[in-house]
Amino acid sequence: MQKMRERLAAFIAPDPPEPPDPVEDLGRGLKPGSEHYRAFVGPPEDYDLLAGIQAGLLFACGLREDHHVADVGCGSLRAGRLLIPYLRRGHYTGLDPNAWLIDKAIEHEIGHDLIRLKAPAFVHNEDFDLSEGHGPFDFILAQSVFSHTYPDMTTNGLRSLTTQLAPGGKIVATFATGKENTEGSGWAYPVCVQYKPEHLFELAERAGLCAFPLDWPHPRQRWFVAAAPEDRASAESLAASVRSPATETIGRSARRRSAG
Ligand SMILES: C[S@@+](CC[C@H](N)C(=O)[O-])C[C@H]1O[C@@H](n2cnc3c(N)ncnc32)[C@H](O)[C@@H]1O
Repeated sequence: MQKMRERLAAFIAPDPPEPPDPVEDLGRGLKPGSEHYRAFVGPPEDYDLLAGIQAGLLFACGLREDHHVADVGCGSLRAGRLLIPYLRRGHYTGLDPNAWLIDKAIEHEIGHDLIRLKAPAFVHNEDFDLSEGHGPFDFILAQSVFSHTYPDMTTNGLRSLTTQLAPGGKIVATFATGKENTEGSGWAYPVCVQYKPEHLFELAERAGLCAFPLDWPHPRQRWFVAAAPEDRASAESLAASVRSPATETIGRSARRRSAG
Protein backbone atom coordinates (compact mmCIF):
# COMPACT_ATOMS: atom_id res chain seq x y z
CA MET A 1 0.00 0.00 0.00
CA GLN A 2 2.83 2.37 1.03
CA LYS A 3 4.70 1.62 -2.23
CA MET A 4 1.60 2.33 -4.27
CA ARG A 5 1.11 5.64 -2.46
CA GLU A 6 4.74 6.62 -3.25
CA ARG A 7 4.33 5.72 -6.93
CA LEU A 8 1.10 7.70 -7.13
CA ALA A 9 2.74 10.71 -5.45
CA ALA A 10 5.64 10.60 -7.95
CA PHE A 11 3.15 10.47 -10.80
CA ILE A 12 1.15 13.45 -9.53
CA ALA A 13 4.19 15.57 -8.57
CA PRO A 14 7.13 14.59 -10.83
CA ASP A 15 10.63 15.73 -9.92
CA PRO A 16 11.19 19.46 -10.65
CA PRO A 17 13.42 20.13 -13.69
CA GLU A 18 17.14 20.49 -12.99
CA PRO A 19 18.05 24.13 -12.25
CA PRO A 20 20.41 25.65 -14.82
CA ASP A 21 24.08 25.02 -14.12
CA PRO A 22 25.17 28.24 -12.31
CA VAL A 23 28.66 28.03 -13.81
CA GLU A 24 27.49 27.55 -17.38
CA ASP A 25 24.43 29.76 -17.66
CA LEU A 26 24.74 30.97 -21.24
CA GLY A 27 21.73 33.30 -21.15
CA ARG A 28 20.27 31.75 -24.30
CA GLY A 29 16.77 32.97 -25.06
CA LEU A 30 17.27 36.30 -23.27
CA LYS A 31 16.84 39.56 -25.17
CA PRO A 32 19.93 41.63 -26.04
CA GLY A 33 20.50 44.21 -23.30
CA SER A 34 19.15 41.88 -20.54
CA GLU A 35 20.94 41.85 -17.18
CA HIS A 36 23.02 38.76 -17.99
CA TYR A 37 26.72 39.11 -18.85
CA ARG A 38 26.30 37.43 -22.25
CA ALA A 39 22.89 38.82 -23.18
CA PHE A 40 23.77 42.39 -22.17
CA VAL A 41 26.25 42.71 -25.04
CA GLY A 42 24.08 41.22 -27.81
CA PRO A 43 22.07 38.12 -28.76
CA PRO A 44 23.54 35.46 -26.42
CA GLU A 45 23.25 32.87 -29.21
CA ASP A 46 25.94 34.83 -31.10
CA TYR A 47 28.29 35.40 -28.16
CA ASP A 48 30.86 32.87 -29.39
CA LEU A 49 30.51 33.91 -33.02
CA LEU A 50 31.26 37.58 -32.35
CA ALA A 51 34.31 36.52 -30.33
CA GLY A 52 35.71 34.62 -33.31
CA ILE A 53 34.79 37.36 -35.80
CA GLN A 54 36.65 40.00 -33.78
CA ALA A 55 39.79 37.99 -33.10
CA GLY A 56 39.81 36.73 -36.71
CA LEU A 57 39.68 40.27 -38.05
CA LEU A 58 42.57 41.42 -35.88
CA PHE A 59 44.64 38.43 -37.07
CA ALA A 60 43.74 39.26 -40.68
CA CYS A 61 44.93 42.83 -39.98
CA GLY A 62 48.31 41.50 -38.85
CA LEU A 63 47.92 41.07 -35.09
CA ARG A 64 50.93 39.52 -33.34
CA GLU A 65 51.44 38.72 -29.65
CA ASP A 66 53.79 41.71 -29.20
CA HIS A 67 51.10 44.20 -30.16
CA HIS A 68 49.25 46.32 -27.63
CA VAL A 69 45.47 46.05 -28.01
CA ALA A 70 42.70 48.13 -26.47
CA ASP A 71 39.21 46.65 -26.48
CA VAL A 72 36.88 49.64 -26.15
CA GLY A 73 33.46 48.74 -24.74
CA CYS A 74 34.99 45.33 -23.99
CA GLY A 75 31.80 44.25 -22.19
CA SER A 76 32.00 40.69 -20.93
CA LEU A 77 35.31 40.02 -22.72
CA ARG A 78 33.73 38.42 -25.74
CA ALA A 79 36.86 39.25 -27.73
CA GLY A 80 39.02 39.45 -24.61
CA ARG A 81 38.60 35.77 -23.82
CA LEU A 82 40.51 34.98 -27.03
CA LEU A 83 42.85 37.98 -27.08
CA ILE A 84 44.07 37.93 -23.46
CA PRO A 85 45.57 34.40 -23.68
CA TYR A 86 47.08 35.18 -27.10
CA LEU A 87 48.76 38.50 -26.31
CA ARG A 88 51.85 38.89 -24.16
CA ARG A 89 51.53 39.81 -20.50
CA GLY A 90 50.34 43.40 -20.05
CA HIS A 91 49.39 43.89 -23.71
CA TYR A 92 45.58 43.88 -23.41
CA THR A 93 43.48 46.76 -22.11
CA GLY A 94 39.70 46.56 -21.72
CA LEU A 95 37.63 49.72 -21.31
CA ASP A 96 34.02 49.54 -20.18
CA PRO A 97 31.96 51.69 -17.81
CA ASN A 98 30.09 48.54 -16.69
CA ALA A 99 32.66 46.83 -14.46
CA TRP A 100 30.16 44.07 -13.58
CA LEU A 101 30.45 42.67 -17.11
CA ILE A 102 34.20 42.18 -16.70
CA ASP A 103 33.76 40.67 -13.22
CA LYS A 104 31.26 38.14 -14.59
CA ALA A 105 33.51 37.34 -17.55
CA ILE A 106 36.43 36.64 -15.20
CA GLU A 107 34.18 34.44 -13.05
CA HIS A 108 32.52 32.49 -15.90
CA GLU A 109 34.81 32.69 -18.93
CA ILE A 110 38.50 33.20 -18.23
CA GLY A 111 39.25 32.76 -14.51
CA HIS A 112 41.60 34.57 -12.14
CA ASP A 113 44.69 32.52 -13.09
CA LEU A 114 44.70 34.07 -16.56
CA ILE A 115 44.35 37.54 -15.05
CA ARG A 116 47.38 36.88 -12.82
CA LEU A 117 49.37 35.43 -15.73
CA LYS A 118 48.55 38.02 -18.40
CA ALA A 119 47.95 41.13 -16.27
CA PRO A 120 45.40 42.85 -18.52
CA ALA A 121 44.41 46.42 -17.61
CA PHE A 122 40.74 47.26 -17.10
CA VAL A 123 39.56 50.85 -17.07
CA HIS A 124 36.08 52.15 -16.42
CA ASN A 125 34.88 55.45 -17.85
CA GLU A 126 32.38 56.80 -20.36
CA ASP A 127 34.82 59.19 -22.05
CA PHE A 128 36.80 56.75 -24.23
CA ASP A 129 39.77 57.59 -22.03
CA LEU A 130 42.48 54.94 -22.41
CA SER A 131 45.23 56.92 -20.69
CA GLU A 132 45.24 54.49 -17.71
CA GLY A 133 45.64 51.46 -19.98
CA HIS A 134 48.67 49.59 -21.37
CA GLY A 135 49.02 51.95 -24.37
CA PRO A 136 49.91 53.32 -26.82
CA PHE A 137 48.01 50.84 -28.95
CA ASP A 138 48.70 49.09 -32.23
CA PHE A 139 45.02 48.15 -32.45
CA ILE A 140 42.00 49.74 -30.83
CA LEU A 141 39.00 47.47 -31.25
CA ALA A 142 35.46 48.82 -30.75
CA GLN A 143 32.85 46.22 -31.68
CA SER A 144 29.25 47.44 -31.43
CA VAL A 145 30.15 50.62 -29.60
CA PHE A 146 29.79 53.31 -32.30
CA SER A 147 26.53 51.57 -33.19
CA HIS A 148 25.24 53.09 -29.93
CA THR A 149 26.79 56.57 -30.01
CA TYR A 150 25.10 59.61 -31.53
CA PRO A 151 27.29 61.89 -33.67
CA ASP A 152 28.60 64.07 -30.79
CA MET A 153 29.77 61.05 -28.80
CA THR A 154 31.11 59.31 -31.90
CA THR A 155 33.33 62.26 -32.80
CA ASN A 156 34.47 62.91 -29.24
CA GLY A 157 35.06 59.21 -28.61
CA LEU A 158 37.10 58.73 -31.78
CA ARG A 159 39.07 61.91 -31.03
CA SER A 160 39.96 60.62 -27.57
CA LEU A 161 40.99 57.19 -28.92
CA THR A 162 43.18 58.83 -31.57
CA THR A 163 45.45 60.23 -28.84
CA GLN A 164 46.24 56.67 -27.70
CA LEU A 165 47.25 55.20 -31.07
CA ALA A 166 50.86 54.06 -31.49
CA PRO A 167 52.63 55.12 -34.70
CA GLY A 168 51.03 53.00 -37.44
CA GLY A 169 48.17 52.07 -35.06
CA LYS A 170 44.65 51.35 -36.31
CA ILE A 171 41.16 51.68 -34.91
CA VAL A 172 39.04 48.71 -36.02
CA ALA A 173 35.38 49.23 -35.24
CA THR A 174 31.78 48.65 -36.29
CA PHE A 175 28.81 50.88 -36.93
CA ALA A 176 25.17 50.29 -37.80
CA THR A 177 24.16 51.42 -41.27
CA GLY A 178 20.86 53.01 -42.18
CA LYS A 179 19.25 54.93 -45.01
CA GLU A 180 19.05 57.95 -42.71
CA ASN A 181 21.35 59.18 -39.93
CA THR A 182 19.74 58.84 -36.49
CA GLU A 183 19.53 62.19 -34.68
CA GLY A 184 20.35 62.53 -30.99
CA SER A 185 23.07 63.02 -28.42
CA GLY A 186 25.19 60.75 -26.23
CA TRP A 187 24.63 57.00 -25.81
CA ALA A 188 21.67 54.79 -26.87
CA TYR A 189 21.26 51.18 -25.69
CA PRO A 190 20.28 48.54 -26.62
CA VAL A 191 18.78 50.29 -29.65
CA CYS A 192 21.20 51.17 -32.42
CA VAL A 193 22.16 54.57 -33.79
CA GLN A 194 22.28 54.30 -37.58
CA TYR A 195 24.61 56.09 -39.94
CA LYS A 196 24.92 56.43 -43.67
CA PRO A 197 28.52 55.24 -44.21
CA GLU A 198 29.64 58.58 -45.67
CA HIS A 199 28.41 60.39 -42.53
CA LEU A 200 30.28 58.04 -40.22
CA PHE A 201 33.47 58.58 -42.23
CA GLU A 202 32.93 62.34 -42.08
CA LEU A 203 32.66 62.15 -38.26
CA ALA A 204 35.92 60.16 -38.19
CA GLU A 205 37.55 62.87 -40.28
CA ARG A 206 36.29 65.51 -37.82
CA ALA A 207 38.03 63.48 -35.11
CA GLY A 208 41.33 63.72 -37.02
CA LEU A 209 41.23 60.28 -38.64
CA CYS A 210 40.89 58.82 -42.09
CA ALA A 211 38.49 55.89 -42.26
CA PHE A 212 37.74 53.15 -44.78
CA PRO A 213 35.15 50.34 -44.90
CA LEU A 214 36.40 46.84 -44.18
CA ASP A 215 35.04 43.79 -45.94
CA TRP A 216 34.68 41.51 -42.93
CA PRO A 217 31.59 39.57 -41.82
CA HIS A 218 29.20 40.79 -39.17
CA PRO A 219 25.62 39.60 -38.70
CA ARG A 220 24.19 43.10 -38.22
CA GLN A 221 26.80 45.84 -38.59
CA ARG A 222 29.62 47.10 -40.83
CA TRP A 223 33.35 47.17 -40.04
CA PHE A 224 35.71 50.07 -40.71
CA VAL A 225 39.37 50.84 -40.14
CA ALA A 226 40.58 54.30 -39.12
CA ALA A 227 44.07 55.74 -38.68
CA ALA A 228 45.90 59.02 -38.25
CA PRO A 229 46.40 60.92 -41.54
CA GLU A 230 50.09 59.95 -41.68
CA ASP A 231 49.01 56.30 -41.70
CA ARG A 232 46.40 56.80 -44.41
CA ALA A 233 48.22 54.62 -46.96
CA SER A 234 48.53 51.61 -44.67
CA ALA A 235 44.89 51.90 -43.53
CA GLU A 236 43.75 52.14 -47.14
CA SER A 237 45.83 49.16 -48.19
CA LEU A 238 44.50 47.14 -45.22
CA ALA A 239 40.95 47.98 -46.31
CA ALA A 240 41.77 46.89 -49.85
CA SER A 241 43.39 43.60 -48.85
CA VAL A 242 41.50 42.23 -45.84
CA ARG A 243 38.89 39.67 -46.92
CA SER A 244 37.21 36.93 -44.96
CA PRO A 245 37.15 33.49 -46.51
CA ALA A 246 34.10 32.72 -44.37
CA THR A 247 31.67 35.58 -44.96
CA GLU A 248 28.81 33.35 -46.15
CA THR A 249 29.30 30.65 -43.54
CA ILE A 250 29.33 33.19 -40.74
CA GLY A 251 26.32 35.03 -42.19
CA ARG A 252 24.30 31.81 -42.24
CA SER A 253 25.15 30.83 -38.68
CA ALA A 254 24.30 34.20 -37.10
CA ARG A 255 20.92 35.36 -35.89
CA ARG A 256 19.55 38.68 -37.03
CA ARG A 257 18.74 40.95 -34.13
CA SER A 258 19.18 44.61 -33.17
CA ALA A 259 22.01 45.09 -30.64
CA GLY A 260 25.51 43.75 -30.43
C1 LIG B 1 26.94 45.92 -27.63
S1 LIG B 1 28.05 45.89 -26.28
C2 LIG B 1 29.52 45.32 -27.09
C3 LIG B 1 30.51 44.76 -26.14
C4 LIG B 1 31.78 44.14 -26.76
N1 LIG B 1 32.46 45.09 -27.61
C5 LIG B 1 31.47 42.86 -27.47
O1 LIG B 1 31.75 42.74 -28.66
O2 LIG B 1 30.93 41.97 -26.81
C6 LIG B 1 28.41 47.61 -25.95
C7 LIG B 1 29.33 47.81 -24.78
O3 LIG B 1 29.65 49.19 -24.67
C8 LIG B 1 29.73 49.51 -23.30
N2 LIG B 1 29.61 50.98 -23.12
C9 LIG B 1 28.58 51.72 -22.69
N3 LIG B 1 28.89 53.03 -22.66
C10 LIG B 1 30.16 53.12 -23.10
C11 LIG B 1 31.09 54.19 -23.26
N4 LIG B 1 30.75 55.45 -23.02
N5 LIG B 1 32.33 53.92 -23.71
C12 LIG B 1 32.69 52.63 -23.98
N6 LIG B 1 31.86 51.57 -23.84
C13 LIG B 1 30.62 51.81 -23.40
C14 LIG B 1 28.62 48.72 -22.68
O4 LIG B 1 28.79 48.56 -21.29
C15 LIG B 1 28.75 47.41 -23.46
O5 LIG B 1 29.62 46.53 -22.82
